[in-house]
Amino acid sequence: MYTADPVFWRAGAVSSTAVMLVVLIFLTADSLAVIRPGGANVPPYTVINREIRYEYDSQAGRDRPVIGADQPLFGHVYSDGEAAALMRKAKLTLQSRNCMNCHTFFGNGAYYGPDLTKAWLDPVWTQMWMPMTQADSREKAMVAFLMNPEKYPTWSRQMPNLKITREEAEAVTAYLKWMSAVDTNGFPIHFGHIKTD
Ligand code: HEC
Repeated sequence: MYTADPVFWRAGAVSSTAVMLVVLIFLTADSLAVIRPGGANVPPYTVINREIRYEYDSQAGRDRPVIGADQPLFGHVYSDGEAAALMRKAKLTLQSRNCMNCHTFFGNGAYYGPDLTKAWLDPVWTQMWMPMTQADSREKAMVAFLMNPEKYPTWSRQMPNLKITREEAEAVTAYLKWMSAVDTNGFPIHFGHIKTD
């Protein structure tokens, strides 16, 4: 019987591994095309130049980010290249300070501090941090808070001063705005977002 021959089984294992490798490569390429900024499911980084709202979608039964009219960040319209450089700076800042040790991004991280996935839309910016920092925009309040969190506490737990420079704080603010525009299937739930009506 050919099934008694180990060569038969080896050939079967080698060929099914080869087929699955092709499937894996195809799925990886397909997923990357969908999840990269500017891909089918993720807005490009230049979305930071637009207003981002969060609206209830009754058909889906959850909130969904809606990209609105022009709303430059820090009064500036960022080009593709500028926005990409800003995001790179933000990611280096998030990694160097290990923000994920306390916060969650896209479902990864910790819950010592608030989930940051939709932090840009948190009503606390307009209700508390804008008055506290005397900033006339949400992004300026965010920069002031990130540079001196111990000066503007709102919560039972305080964020330590991580010696974030102004440049780094501006980049992180842009990153948080971009992140809020990503449709995360309603995650995190029970999120008290800024009223936009
Ligand atoms: C040691 C833990 C810790 C680390 C590390 C940390 N944070 Fe925080 N963060 C907190 C806590 C606690 C709060 C709540 C502070 C408050 O409301 O007074 C907070 C609040 C925030 C908020 C406001 C969120 C909201 O919607 O209310 C932002 C934005 C933020 N942190 C960003 C960052 C970034 C960016 C980093 C990394 C550069 C970072 N944090 C690192 C603990 C931390």
